[in-house]
Amino acid sequence: MSLQAPAAAAKPPSKHLRRYGPWALVTGASDGIGRAIAERLAMGGFNLVLVARRQEALDALAADLGRTGVETRVVANDLGPRGGAAQLDRATADLDVGLVIAAAGFGTSGDLLESRLETELDMVDLNCRAVVEISSVFGHRLAKRGRGGLVLFSSVLAFQGAAGAANYAATKAFVQTFAEGLGEELKPRGVDVLATAPGPTHTGFASRANMKMGFAASPEDVARATIAALGRSGTVRPGFVAKLLGWSLTPLPRRARAAIMGRAMASMRPKPASAA
Ligand SMILES: NC(=O)c1ccc[n+]([C@@H]2O[C@H](COP(=O)([O-])OP(=O)(O)OC[C@H]3O[C@@H](n4cnc5c(N)ncnc54)[C@H](OP(=O)(O)O)[C@@H]3O)[C@@H](O)[C@H]2O)c1
Repeated sequence: MSLQAPAAAAKPPSKHLRRYGPWALVTGASDGIGRAIAERLAMGGFNLVLVARRQEALDALAADLGRTGVETRVVANDLGPRGGAAQLDRATADLDVGLVIAAAGFGTSGDLLESRLETELDMVDLNCRAVVEISSVFGHRLAKRGRGGLVLFSSVLAFQGAAGAANYAATKAFVQTFAEGLGEELKPRGVDVLATAPGPTHTGFASRANMKMGFAASPEDVARATIAALGRSGTVRPGFVAKLLGWSLTPLPRRARAAIMGRAMASMRPKPASAA
């Protein structure tokens, strides 16, 4: 996305900025979908807290976003270990954060028995435990101010198991279920919770998960659909592939859905050299 100087600053604040501004906190902001969401929010006039592990990438993004006229704060933080959300809370205590986008996450692919257990457990820590921590710590802050938004990252894999991504799909099922319940708990306190369930999206995610994605959405498309759905629904499937999978798979029995998703995962795994 090309970031431009603030025509936005001259415009009256959008409905989103009035409800969720002035500060948004985005985890996973150094890359992929989180970065695209940070860019989109900056274009809408939000000040941004940018969170991920890579300080340099965050500093470069902050410099870019600064050109739109918004304020930024970089918090380089590993959310894997316990207590990461408490550190974020301290680092932003002086800011009026009204919107939290918890995009940091990663996936693995392949059978569990061929995977490093340590990596699988790290994934549970980041994709699930850290999401609960952030939701609790910032849920309190958002509820206290009586209005706010919280966006959690589910996936098309959240709605059934999938061979070749058994643990990743389970982490996303956790987030999906968590977001649905939490949304009901926080609604009376003025906080909108959105689960966003993308399909394959062209980011660094695939290479880290050792997958090859063919047809995939752009992170900008996912960012646009996610922000548009905030406050309007509890779950969004951003992008054409995610919607198509939803329409076509939802009527099927769960076991059939799992078999189809398992085959889709297998098709995205690189072929062993001997099979070429
Ligand atoms: N891409 C897809 O096909 C897809 C589909 C469905 C759902 N999703 C979900 O969408 C979310 C965003 O994924 P993406 O595709 O944008 O992935 P990505 O391009 O790999 O970006 C992941 C982001 O998370 C940050 N991160 C990773 N580990 C972290 C840690 N321990 N502490 C703090 N930050 C950490 C990374 O930054 P650093 O390396 O600098 O820490 C990066 O900014 C994830 O939750 C993913 O599960 C993705």
